[in-house]
Amino acid sequence: MTTTTPAPAGTGAPGRAQIPFRHLRTDTWWLQPAITVLVLVSFIIYSTFRAFENAHYFVEPYISPFYSPCITKACHGNSFPKLFDGPSFISPALYILIVPLGFRLTCYYYRKAYYRSFWLSPPACAVAEPHKTYTGETRVPLIGNNVHRYFFVLGLVFNCILTYDAVLAFRNEDGEWGHMGLGTLVFIANATLLWLYSLSCHSCRHIMGGKLNHFSKHPLRYRFWQIVSKLNGSHMKYAWVSLFGVALTDFYVRCLSTGLFNDPRFF
Ligand code: FES
Repeated sequence: MTTTTPAPAGTGAPGRAQIPFRHLRTDTWWLQPAITVLVLVSFIIYSTFRAFENAHYFVEPYISPFYSPCITKACHGNSFPKLFDGPSFISPALYILIVPLGFRLTCYYYRKAYYRSFWLSPPACAVAEPHKTYTGETRVPLIGNNVHRYFFVLGLVFNCILTYDAVLAFRNEDGEWGHMGLGTLVFIANATLLWLYSLSCHSCRHIMGGKLNHFSKHPLRYRFWQIVSKLNGSHMKYAWVSLFGVALTDFYVRCLSTGLFNDPRFF
C-alpha cells in the first residue's frame, strides 16, 4: 500500500519566492471569504433549526422542501407514499437530509468556497495559506468528495419529487385542481432553480460529453454537452440562488403554517 507524503505548502514551499509577508495585496481580498462564511453559517443555522423543529412544514397544498419526500408515517405531508414508522421524536427531515446535504457538500463549487473561506486554503489569490502541508483530496475525509457524481444522480430524483410538489401546488386547500396562489409561484421558482443548479453541475457536463473521442460521432450528446456547458458557466450563481430558493420556500411554508399571513390566491 502506498502512502502519500504531504507536499509542503504556502510561502515555505521549495521553489517559492521567500517573501516575509503573508501577502502583498492592498484590496479587500478578505471580504468575499467573509461573506461566504456568513451566508453559509446562516443557512446551516436556519436549516438545522428547521430540520429539528419537526413542525410547521406542511400546509395544504404546500410541503417544505426540507421535509420532502415525506417518507415516514408520522410525517404530515401527503405528497409521497409513507414508507415506514419512524420514532416520532426523530424529525422526518433528518431521514432525507443526507441527499441534499451530500450533494451540496461535495459540489465542486461549494468545495472551492468552503476550502477558501473556512480552511483558508488559500483564502484568496496570492494570499498564503496558514497550513504547512497540502494533501489535496487524497485522504480521509476530503477523498469522500469524489462521491459527488452519485449524489448528483440522487439529487435528480429529489428534483423530480420537488417538481411534483410544485405541480401539486396547483391545487387549493381542499385538494381541488386548477388553482394557483403565490405559493405556487414560489414552488415553481424553487424547482426551476434546483434544476438549473443540477443541470449546470460539473458531473452532469462530464456525463453528457465526457470520455468521447469524437463529438462528430455523437451529435446528440454533443448538443447536450453544449447546453450543459453554457449552464455550467453560471454554476456558482445557480448554487447560491438555489440555496436561497430552498430556504425561502421553506420559510414561506412556515409563515403560512404559523398563520403569519395567508397565501394570496390568484384563482
Ligand atoms: S459541481 Fe456543483 S452540483 Fe455538481
